[in-house]
Amino acid sequence: MSTNKPAFMQWLDQRLPVTNAYEKHMSKYYAPVNLNFWYVFGLLATLVFANQILTGIWLTMSFVPSADEAFLSVEYIMRDVEMGWLIRYMHSTGASFFFIVVYLHMFRGIMYGSYKKPRELIWVFGMFIYLVLMAEGFMGYVLPWGQMSYWGAQVIISLFGAIPVIGDGLTEWIRGDFLISGITLNRFFALHVIALPLVLALLVVLHILALHEVGSNNPDGIDIKKHKDEQGKPLDGIPFHPYYTLGKLPMIIVFLFVFCGVIFFFPEGGGYFLEHANFEPANPLKTPEHIAPTWYYGAFYSILRAVPDKLMGVIAMGAAIAILFILPWLDKSPVLSWRYKGWMSKTAIVVFALAFIMLSYLGGQPVTDLNTWLARIGSVIYFGFFLLMPIYTRMESTKPVPERVPAK
Ligand code: HEM
Repeated sequence: MSTNKPAFMQWLDQRLPVTNAYEKHMSKYYAPVNLNFWYVFGLLATLVFANQILTGIWLTMSFVPSADEAFLSVEYIMRDVEMGWLIRYMHSTGASFFFIVVYLHMFRGIMYGSYKKPRELIWVFGMFIYLVLMAEGFMGYVLPWGQMSYWGAQVIISLFGAIPVIGDGLTEWIRGDFLISGITLNRFFALHVIALPLVLALLVVLHILALHEVGSNNPDGIDIKKHKDEQGKPLDGIPFHPYYTLGKLPMIIVFLFVFCGVIFFFPEGGGYFLEHANFEPANPLKTPEHIAPTWYYGAFYSILRAVPDKLMGVIAMGAAIAILFILPWLDKSPVLSWRYKGWMSKTAIVVFALAFIMLSYLGGQPVTDLNTWLARIGSVIYFGFFLLMPIYTRMESTKPVPERVPAK
């Protein structure tokens, strides 16, 4: 162990592997030299996660989780608590930004085949994160106890009622009551502020540990561990710190500008981030004219509505999420990145992304014949992308992947 460390660090290192961990995960973690713009979203997701935790703690100080007071306590935060409006908007807009960042992060994984061997587990942990994040967002949305909180919860919880035999008992168990009530609000509060954030934090740690075990992929899908210098450092790798920590700083600043711009000038996101109906208190006797989930669940909600039968719709929606888990085993291509895949994979990825955006949009639109048919077409493309993947990734010819990262 080096002796030019301050005495306190030496003392600490003998008791806790601080320097070891710092070297393993920062200064001696060799990331590929060719990481691009798309590689900032993991870091941004971590940043938004921290924002959600911090603003969430402050919101909890003034929020009252009871059916009588929840809505009013949010109004109190917005009007009377010092900077309460800012903290609330940082949290509510933060939720939408969390999903924007995570969707772009996942799309990067799909483009560059980051889910493929040896990174399957990183992807699977990522999918568990995504699942928990969806539950977290849903429960958070119920808390302000507005009209959409109440009726959104009504729609989503009643989906479990479609399950044969246990359906009715299960919905009652989730609600903790015969209908959605303050009891439901209370348990969602407990899950939203402590249980799910804990699980999320644990999953993020596992996600990063799995990543650092096998190393980052890159836009060319080249294995940088194949070519090392005499000290064992990858020739196409650079230490994560200081190169990427500082290198990503400009992108983080741009992100913060955009985030602040939305918070200050467009906090409701035109009804996409905070729906208009949620500015009215929950009223169990008055169904809103148009119940729509927040935009980030739109794609799955569209798939649900595209199927005429309720149970089949719920199964299709579940399958749409479940199939993402097995993506690493559906892609049979010998190469990772779409840069070296054939035209079929490239077209499939672009069409899939467009279908996903269309489905997300349709999820917030009223049911019309046209919208239902568009949702059906989008759903077929969605499943086609995954189910046909073993075929088109085997059939197409790929370009040879260079041994070393190509010079720019
Ligand atoms: C709270 C949410 C998440 C956080 C904080 C997070 C964090 C990170 C970080 C810091 C990295 C390394 C930097 C980077 O490659 O961008 C990473 C890599 C990765 N993440 Fe996530 N992630 C999250 C969610 C997800 C989800 C939902 C998925 C997919 C289902 C996913 C899949 C991946 C993959 C495949 C990699 C490796 C990428 C590569 O090496 O090319 N992550 N994640």
